[in-house]
Amino acid sequence: MDLLDVIKTRHSIRSFKPDPVPESIITEMLEAARHAPSGGNAQTHCFGVITDEDLKVKLAAAAGHQMWIATAPVVFACCADISWDMADVPEDDFGLAVNKLRFGNELINYLNAYEDRKAVCTLFQNAAPLIPAEHIFLTAAAHGLGGCFVGYPDVKEANTVLNLPSNLTCLFLLPVGYPDEASYMPKKKEISEISFCNRFDRRLSNMNNYEYTKLYYSYWIDMGMETFDNPGITLVKSEKRKIRQVGYPANFEVYCLAIGDKLFISYNQNLDITYNFYDEFTNIKYSEEALLKLNRIFPNRVHRRKVFYHDTFREDIDFREVIMLKKEDYRYYHDFFITQNPHLSPDGWLEEYYRYLAENHLCFGIFKDDKLVSVTDSPFIPYIPEAITEPGINTLEEYRGKGYAKKVCAAFIKNAIDSGKVPIWTCRHDNKASVKLAESLGYREFADLYTVEGGKDNG
Ligand SMILES: Cc1cc2nc3c(=O)[nH]c(=O)nc-3n(C[C@H](O)[C@H](O)[C@H](O)COP(=O)(O)O)c2cc1C
Repeated sequence: MDLLDVIKTRHSIRSFKPDPVPESIITEMLEAARHAPSGGNAQTHCFGVITDEDLKVKLAAAAGHQMWIATAPVVFACCADISWDMADVPEDDFGLAVNKLRFGNELINYLNAYEDRKAVCTLFQNAAPLIPAEHIFLTAAAHGLGGCFVGYPDVKEANTVLNLPSNLTCLFLLPVGYPDEASYMPKKKEISEISFCNRFDRRLSNMNNYEYTKLYYSYWIDMGMETFDNPGITLVKSEKRKIRQVGYPANFEVYCLAIGDKLFISYNQNLDITYNFYDEFTNIKYSEEALLKLNRIFPNRVHRRKVFYHDTFREDIDFREVIMLKKEDYRYYHDFFITQNPHLSPDGWLEEYYRYLAENHLCFGIFKDDKLVSVTDSPFIPYIPEAITEPGINTLEEYRGKGYAKKVCAAFIKNAIDSGKVPIWTCRHDNKASVKLAESLGYREFADLYTVEGGKDNG
C-alpha cells in the first residue's frame, strides 16, 4: 500500500480479535516511532508495550473505565519525559523564549511560579508522544491492524500502574490489534475546509462559488458534500430538524433540496413514528413522486423556494449612486420601514436589527426625493457565516421598475465579494421578479428547496 492508502485505511477500532500482534510488527512500529520528528530533536517520547492482561485492565480502568482497551492484545503506553522545567532554565533558554512567544509572558510567569511543577511540566509535554504514536498507528494500519488513541488516562493512576520513574508520565494509550468490527469511516472535512492558500483569504481557496453554495446547503441538510453525488433520492435523519435557527419562525421538520433529478431529504426522525417517513420514501425512485408524496403527507405545509449561486459579477451595472448606510442613518431606515409596513410597530427590535446590518456592511440603499427608496438587508446565515452571505431587497412601491433594486444588490454583492464572501440568493419559487433580478445580477439556479415547518414553539 502506498502512504496515502495507509493513511486512508487507518481509522479508530475499539473491538479486537484475541490474535496476538507478531513481535516483528511491534518492533517495526517502534522503529517508526523512533524516526518521528520532535521539537529541537529532544525526543522526550517513550513507549511502553503492554501485553500483561492485569496491567491492561488497570490501564483501561484508569482511562475512564473504557474497558474495551483491555481487549487489545497490545496497548502502547505513550509517555513523555517531563524533566525539562522552564522555571529552572536561564532567561535566554530557547524553549522558554518559544513558550513566551506563543503564550505570552503573563501566563508563562504565572506557570513558573505555580507550585505543582509536575503538572506544569506535564502540560508542556502533552503533545510530545503524539507524532511518534501516529507513526505507530500508521505502521499498524499498513499491517491490517487497528487501534485507537485514548486521551483520557488518569495520569497519576496510569503512572502507578506502569511503575514509571518520576521523570516519566503516561499521556495517551494506543491499544492495537486485529480489528473485530465492521469498517466505519467517520466523515472527514473537505480539503477546502481544513486548508487555505497563503494569507487566509477565501477568494484564494480552490472552491468556487458553486462549491461554497453546495457546502452551505450540505450543512443545512446535514450530510457530507460528497453525498451530493448520490443519484436518486437520499434520506438523511438529522437532529438539525429539531432545532429552530435564529431568524426563523420555527424548526424545519423537513428540509429538502432538489438538484436536477436528485433529491436530498433531511428530516426529523420523529416523523418515522408519526408518518412512517423512512418507509414511505425508501422505495421511491423518482423525485417527482417523492415531492407528490411530501405534499400528500403535509397538505398545504410544503413551502417551495428557489436557491441560486453567484456565477459571475456583472461589471456593467453602474451602482455609483448606491450608499452604504451607517449606524447613524437609522432614521432613514426607520422611515422606510414605516412606509412599507404601516401596521407594524418597529419599536425596539428594528433599531437593533439595523445596527447589526450597518455594523456588518449589509445595508446598501438609494435615496430619492430625500428618502430611502430601495435598500438591502440580509437574513441570518446559520452555517459558515464567515463565507456565505445573502442579500435581501426591498423597494418602495412607487419606485419599483426603475432598476434601483438591481443597483443596491450589485453594491451588496460587490462588497461581499471584496470581503471574501460568497453571495447566495433565495426567493419564493413563484416570485418571477426576484428570479429575473437574480439572473440579471449574475446568479444561476442551484436547487429547488422544499421545507415543512414544525411547531412555532420549538427551540
Ligand atoms: C488525542 C486523541 C484522544 C482520543 N481519545 C479517545 C478516547 O479516550 N476514547 C475513544 O474512544 N476515542 C478516542 N479518540 C479517537 C477519536 O474519537 C477518533 O480519532 C475520531 O473520532 C476520528 O475517528 P478516526 O480515528 O476513525 O478517523 C482519541 C483521538 C485522539 C486523536
